[in-house]
Amino acid sequence: MKKGGTLFFCQSCGYESAKWSGQCPACREWNTFAEEPAAPKQKGAPAGRRRTGERKSPVSLEHIESKNQERISTGMAELDQVLGGGIVPGSLVLVGGDPGIGKSTLLLQVCRNLAERLSGVLYISGEESLQQIKLRASRIGTFQDSLRLLCETNLADIEAVVLQEGPQVVIIDSIQTMYQEEISSAPGSVSQVREATGVLMRLAKEQNITIFIVGHVTKEGTVAGPRVLEHMVDTVLYFEGDRHASYRILRGVKNRFGSTNEIGVFEMLDTGLREVPNPSEYMLSGKPEGASGSVVVCTMEGTRPMLLEVQALVCRTNFGLPRRTAAGIDYNRVSLLMAVLEKRLNLPLSGFDAYVNVAGGIRLNEPAMDLALVLAVISSYKDIPVPEKTIVFGEVGLSGEVRAVSMAQQRVQEAKRLGFSRVILPKSSMEQVKNIKGIELVGAATVKDALRVVAG
Ligand code: TYD
Ligand code: MG
Repeated sequence: MKKGGTLFFCQSCGYESAKWSGQCPACREWNTFAEEPAAPKQKGAPAGRRRTGERKSPVSLEHIESKNQERISTGMAELDQVLGGGIVPGSLVLVGGDPGIGKSTLLLQVCRNLAERLSGVLYISGEESLQQIKLRASRIGTFQDSLRLLCETNLADIEAVVLQEGPQVVIIDSIQTMYQEEISSAPGSVSQVREATGVLMRLAKEQNITIFIVGHVTKEGTVAGPRVLEHMVDTVLYFEGDRHASYRILRGVKNRFGSTNEIGVFEMLDTGLREVPNPSEYMLSGKPEGASGSVVVCTMEGTRPMLLEVQALVCRTNFGLPRRTAAGIDYNRVSLLMAVLEKRLNLPLSGFDAYVNVAGGIRLNEPAMDLALVLAVISSYKDIPVPEKTIVFGEVGLSGEVRAVSMAQQRVQEAKRLGFSRVILPKSSMEQVKNIKGIELVGAATVKDALRVVAG
């Protein structure tokens, strides 16, 4: 590379290349390459890892003092659960999500709750003016004086303010608006975003401050996405949901201080976000009664069972090639399961279109939903509704067998709690749930068995 030259960076995953290409070879996203000035060669270690003090020597485990990690509750049980029991001092938390999904709202509410117990909370916005934040805050509620606000995008100034104010929690909204003067590329570019995160990481560790970073997920390739930072931070949370539906899901994808794959469910109201402690009830609230092609499945989100409705619509195709669409489920999985039905149950599905949907806009990628999907397709194809108050879960294999899934007990308990009267589950999972009384349990070894139960 010539001196002072430019490089191409994938704005989605941060892949670096000397020449432009249409598709990123690392993350396979299209049109994500953008040209940026190459970062100046630094002397010594990169920022954030600059050496301080004398050289350290290795120690054995037993000589390390074990400290009970204190946690601070955010005042929102759903968020605490995703974080693994509250925020850890000195950690860096990335909150990613589509623009407009509610990241700023969530963090402002967290600020309000934390300001009631902590003496210093600093909210730094590079996107909104103080008046705009005030407008939002007035919808959310009343705030303590220990919450301070700042509109700033220059990272050196932010660092100076943080050192001077000494807050316990800092929010950076958003990392894509922050810049460092020494770096010549524009704010939001891969090198700016990475360097800024490095600086914030060092600040969090040295000052023992919890820092939340907001990162927008962007589709076009001009702004670096939060995936570029995932490896640098302690905790990564994604805020998801259909922007047109009111509920939002906060998902942990990386957590150095707790388990991942926990979720928190929120509802966006005109007064901010409200926690939804019973998501199953919420998700099933619009389920049609006695309609064919609708099946309730119990999936696990981390350790939490959640009931969802899987819907299928199967109708004769008008063209030679059947149309298949899948919303909330992997398309290839739908094709595969329909091929299993065609071969093992002799259903002529290749002459039929199939539209499959998970109601509520949630994405399901657990094998336990296979059996529900299969039954929904058959139910729609035959136009026979699946009996009410029945829930279904199990993985379906290529020879039409129903295979065991994990945590059968929790799934059955959740179905019972919500008043379901029958569960169709893999026969090999029956052993785990035999002690649960008060609900009819039907073990199915093959898809045919399950079908017999439903149709009979
Ligand atoms: P915001 O937090 O600004 O999103 P982000 O920071 O992720 O870009 O959320 C903006 C959306 O939330 C906007 O469409 C308005 C809506 N909203 C409500 O419905 N109720 C509220 O009380 C607030 C503050 C926002
Ligand atoms: Mg925002």
